[in-house]
Amino acid sequence: MENFEFVSPTHFVFGRGAEEQVGEKLAERGARKALIHYGGQSAVKSGLIDRVKAALDEAGIEHVELGGVRPNPEIGLAREGIALCKEHGVDWVLAVGGGSVIDSAKAIAVGAHYDGDVWDFFETKRLTDDVLPIAVVLTIPAAGSEASKNTVVSNDELQLKTGYANNAQRPKLAFMNPELTFTLPEYQTAAGLTDMFCHLLERFFDDVGAVPVTDNLCLALMKTVRAEVPRVMVEPDNYDARANVMWAGMLCHQGLAGVGRHEDWATHGLEHELSALNPAITHGAGLAVMFPAWMEYVYAENPARFAFYGREVFGLAPTGDLEADALSAIDETRGFFASLGMPVTLDELDVREEDIEKLIPTLKENKGEPFGSFKKLTMDDAREIYKIAL
Ligand code: NZQ
Ligand code: ZN
Repeated sequence: MENFEFVSPTHFVFGRGAEEQVGEKLAERGARKALIHYGGQSAVKSGLIDRVKAALDEAGIEHVELGGVRPNPEIGLAREGIALCKEHGVDWVLAVGGGSVIDSAKAIAVGAHYDGDVWDFFETKRLTDDVLPIAVVLTIPAAGSEASKNTVVSNDELQLKTGYANNAQRPKLAFMNPELTFTLPEYQTAAGLTDMFCHLLERFFDDVGAVPVTDNLCLALMKTVRAEVPRVMVEPDNYDARANVMWAGMLCHQGLAGVGRHEDWATHGLEHELSALNPAITHGAGLAVMFPAWMEYVYAENPARFAFYGREVFGLAPTGDLEADALSAIDETRGFFASLGMPVTLDELDVREEDIEKLIPTLKENKGEPFGSFKKLTMDDAREIYKIAL
């Protein structure tokens, strides 16, 4: 096991009606004025934003609001949020939504006390503790941003989608009511399940050998996510299934499932370039295409690890041929994502061979070279992986 540091300051309020406690929990922490940040439509239509406002009013917390966060959020709206925070003396940022809203909220919280442009933090990766506290009402289990140290934001002008990691931007409060996810479109539920599963794959496959305590946590979560698929896809309002998925989504990316490992994250890098190229590409859908392609390209580094994964997660019987077992595990992974209705090829995402060269310069800027850990990848390797995915 490698040395590690692990910080997880998030206070979770989980279950039916969790969001009703927004006002009282923020008031307990001294909040006086919150910026309510939300997405396109769903939280307004469902009445959630009105309920959240009412809860804040009842607790005597003033609020300003900024909606309109798009999936694959853009830095421009975060800049507007920062201006609002400065103008109104906001002391908490309250994100109501999914990964895109939370990530935009994190950018706002990081930039609120900064005199320069918040993009500086994405560019330099400089840490700061001067971050507004963040609370989250989660509406889609997927990205795990409700407890993660990361934010991922696009800069359309620079044609970049870039991550920024800082423990100080981990949310302090997360309200998680599984009932809020009943309204998710099937495709978003599926993309979310794919994303959380991939957060485990990124951690499970790296250049560190077995770390049993961490590996077993990863494997248990993979099995849980897989096991809930039939229930959650067929019965979108099955509370227990939604609850398991929501809590699993957080555990998949809050960090515990990777401690003691180097982790890999090459595939997320490859995917982020796709959703930078075309913001209409859903993160989980891009991962469904890229992960099996990455696996095919790298598995020969350690086929035994893939065979182990295939046995544990998909119940594959060992054949005595590690390479064959590894390839079966990759087939199962692709089949799992396909069974969720996720795309299998880049073609299905309207990404063509001639687009690959457009992805490489920004991939190099974001990830550096070499990147990844299970196998150290060059930009030529990245080109080959994209080609496998075509
Ligand atoms: O905008 P609205 O109208 O709210 O619709 C959203 C959006 O279209 C909809 N939705 C959310 N909750 C709903 C709902 N529709 C009906 N009922 C509900 N309860 O779902 C759509 C997708 O929302 P989004 O927030 O984009 O989804 P997700 O949570 O998958 O977030 C994706 C973003 O997170 C980043 C991704 O790159 C992507 O930009 N990630 C962030 C990470 C992090 N901060 O740690 C890690 C991840 O690996 C990921 O990169
Ligand atoms: Zn992800």
